[in-house]
Amino acid sequence: MPKSLLVQAAEAVYVNILPIFVIIDSMRVLGIETSCDETGIAVYDSQAGLLAHALHSQVELHAQYGGVVPELASRDHQRRIVPLIQQTLAAADLKLQQLDGIAYTAGPGLIGALLVGACVGRSLGWALSIPSVGVHHMEGHLLAVMLEATPPPLPFIALLVSGGHTQLIQVDAIGKYTLLGQSVDDAAGEAFDKVARLLGLAYPGGPEVAKLASQGDPQRYHFPRPMTDRPGLDFSFSGLKTFTVNTWHKSTQDQQARADIARAFEDAVVATLVIKCRRALQQTGLQNLVVAGGVGANQALRQALQTMAEKESVQLYYPRLEFCTDNGAMIAYAGYQRLQHGQHDDLSIKVYPRWHMETIPRF
Ligand code: KG4
Ligand code: ZN
Repeated sequence: MPKSLLVQAAEAVYVNILPIFVIIDSMRVLGIETSCDETGIAVYDSQAGLLAHALHSQVELHAQYGGVVPELASRDHQRRIVPLIQQTLAAADLKLQQLDGIAYTAGPGLIGALLVGACVGRSLGWALSIPSVGVHHMEGHLLAVMLEATPPPLPFIALLVSGGHTQLIQVDAIGKYTLLGQSVDDAAGEAFDKVARLLGLAYPGGPEVAKLASQGDPQRYHFPRPMTDRPGLDFSFSGLKTFTVNTWHKSTQDQQARADIARAFEDAVVATLVIKCRRALQQTGLQNLVVAGGVGANQALRQALQTMAEKESVQLYYPRLEFCTDNGAMIAYAGYQRLQHGQHDDLSIKVYPRWHMETIPRF
């Protein structure tokens, strides 16, 4: 039986026109992360996913100073950023002209470091006549998990634990975030770094404290779990840090004391984070928990969250380990989401060293 005109027309649309829409619909975004001590570059393709990513860590540069030296960080970003963009494009087998958008971290972070990424990102966008967008670093961390093969279903609760932030956020949709609680003083990662310095460990301190803690006796000391004895979802780690300092000064200050104190400190941070996560899940009735940011790489935290999740029938989601810490892929992905909703910069180059997440533009 001959095909009706309608069927022939539908087939023609399917074969000839749809692929054009599919091609137009795909968007390739270059992501640039320079908020602190890592230069991260990536290309995200809305059809094919992550095409390539590269990272240069400044850990060795800052190690001798025991922490990040902002001016050295900016200069190193300047040195690395262009070769790293070239390397990433080569790995993705792309030319600059094949990019459709640029995303860069616009804050929060070190002003000089942020300006390097923002200037390069905004100028590239202008030179290529493609849109560019400044991304909130913590939105990047929050969405890094969406690059995994099994991303979490929405809505979910996110625990963001990095060197600069400790936050619990309700994510109802991409771009729709409600801050449920946050640290009123030090971030969890910052506390790890300060305790590491106290115990004479190398920078960055988190992984070093964790390594030492695994040799510590969990029974020797018991440290407080700050702000868990009252309702609410805020955190405070500054008192715990002082408690750790005092315990260290009163201790025998030998290798075993060092390990036992590291263990007591890690146990206290982990227990506090788990209690607040459980509370946030119970309070909202949500059952998906995403953990992101550098401290999310901590194995003791992962184990304790797993135990809680099994008891509470909660599903846990993490970005792959290399995307827990700073990287360009999360910025490329978050930027893609904003660009596809029509958000982009004007001609000025702006960065926000302090930027509250609640003020991110909504879609
Ligand atoms: O997310 P991130 O790479 O950078 C910021 O946005 O701050 O997080 C870095 C923080 C540092 O404080 C580092 O000590 C901590 O994450 N960190 C860890 C671990 N790995 C990184 N803290 C505890 N245990 C770890 N395994
Ligand atoms: Zn970060």
